Amino acid sequence: MHIGVPKERDGQPLVAATPDTVTKLIKLGYDVSVEAGAGNAARYLNAQYEAAGAQVVSSEQVWDADIILCLDPPSDAQLTLMRPEATLISRLAPGHNPERVQTYADKGITALAMDTVPRISRAQSMDVLSSMANVAGYRAVVEAASAFGRLFTGQVTAAGKMPPARIYVIGAGVAGLAAIGTANAMGAEVYATDVRPEVGEQVESMGASFVAIPAAQEVSSDGYAKEMTTAQRDAALKLYTDQSAESDIVITTANIPGRRAPILLTAQAVAGMKPGSVIVDMAAANGGNCELTEPGKTIMTDNGVIIIGVTDLAGRLPAQSSQLYGQNIVNLLKLATPGKDGELILDLEDEIIRGITLTQAGEILWPPPPVKVSAQAAPAEPKRPDPAQEAARAAEASRAEAKAKRVRLAWMVAAAVAICTLMLYSPAVVIGHYMVLALAVIVGFYVITAVTHSLHTPLMSVTNAISGIILVGAILQVGSNNLLVTVLSFLAIVVASINIFGGFTVTHRMLAMFKKD
Ligand code: NAI
Repeated sequence: MHIGVPKERDGQPLVAATPDTVTKLIKLGYDVSVEAGAGNAARYLNAQYEAAGAQVVSSEQVWDADIILCLDPPSDAQLTLMRPEATLISRLAPGHNPERVQTYADKGITALAMDTVPRISRAQSMDVLSSMANVAGYRAVVEAASAFGRLFTGQVTAAGKMPPARIYVIGAGVAGLAAIGTANAMGAEVYATDVRPEVGEQVESMGASFVAIPAAQEVSSDGYAKEMTTAQRDAALKLYTDQSAESDIVITTANIPGRRAPILLTAQAVAGMKPGSVIVDMAAANGGNCELTEPGKTIMTDNGVIIIGVTDLAGRLPAQSSQLYGQNIVNLLKLATPGKDGELILDLEDEIIRGITLTQAGEILWPPPPVKVSAQAAPAEPKRPDPAQEAARAAEASRAEAKAKRVRLAWMVAAAVAICTLMLYSPAVVIGHYMVLALAVIVGFYVITAVTHSLHTPLMSVTNAISGIILVGAILQVGSNNLLVTVLSFLAIVVASINIFGGFTVTHRMLAMFKKD
């Protein structure tokens, strides 16, 4: 089949395929045509597309393909250029444009919406919203840095001390985590809040401190946050106001799909911020998380707070965003081209394909049935134990513990008696060896317990090489005239060999885990 990549309209700088992804599409068996100049704004030139194996064609020719790849929905005029049986792959926002879905069906076009890929792990490599949010989160920090009149990183110089910038991120989804990572890498002190307490670990792993709201929230089956209750909202608003007053930069990313973005920063919260502070409202396109945001604009309030409401953050890094978008499409086409023969096969039993198919052969298939796989749910409330049962269980546990203590003591006394007897009847020269053994056990115990658990395996695999000494000793003794010595030496050789080779096999396997394919 033939793929066409038209030039986007309305100043959209991104392009739906880059020279790199064109090569991958060709490997899947497709022929690719790119409209002349389609990649110019993203710094991909016609010559690069030709070198990658695409044909560079005119505007009319490009729409005559079997599959059209776009960023944004085509205009009516462009739709008339499409063949009735053709497939359109683009961000189509069907929730906001239900009448367009009808248009695609009327024209007999198969419309696949890249922005309705379900948020399940298998679909992550095709999730264009995440790809764009990731780049946008990075760019939000760059915009903030450019508007902020100070350094991010703290420094002590001859001219004085500079404290690090304090950055507060509200909403730790894809964009929020990207912003946290970028701000942390630039040396800022980063704090973040999300209504989903379970993301706290991810926030901390990106180098920020998690500031929890004293109220948990669930996620819906599609992996997005649900709307908050009034109590949650009040607690959250107070937290956002207090945190913003302490911060130099606030980045808001809260998003409820299909609804206006929730207001997280009221005018009063902005009034409490320091002059020179910056707010980057990533939800500006969806109404904004700050009450004072003007979508598409950067403004300064009376108290000197800069509010950035730009809505094209991903578009400000067009080369990278196009590459990610193009790769998301390649991943989708890998799924939909099982034979790698350039033939698109839409298996509607597959929940990813079903989730993105708006129309097929004149039929409207949108909205899809809910995704069966649920996102990680909040842990269930633990059952309250019965106090009487609890007391009986505690008494039983303390009896068991006392018994275990007595048994341990008896063993220790027996071991001490055995060691003393052994030492009493051993030749004087061996007693020194016993002392070394006892000290080695004590030192070994403290050394190994001081090593973090995750390093026990490599530690053991390396110390197993000590078995090499045993092996050498046993080989020297195995030829002894004494049968007992020969048997014991043989056993020592077998056990020490297992230890040595086992140790090196484990080490080898662990090292392999860090090697690239
Ligand atoms: P996401 O859904 O992955 O993350 C949003 C996060 O906000 C979730 O973790 C959610 O739990 C949290 N959240 C929701 N309500 C909240 C509340 N009241 N308080 C605290 N946290 C709350 O969304 P993603 O993909 O990270 O996108 C974030 C925002 O960035 C969206 O509004 C999206 O439209 C916007 N965006 C903007 C771009 C631009 O150019 N301006 C480009 C790409 C994304």
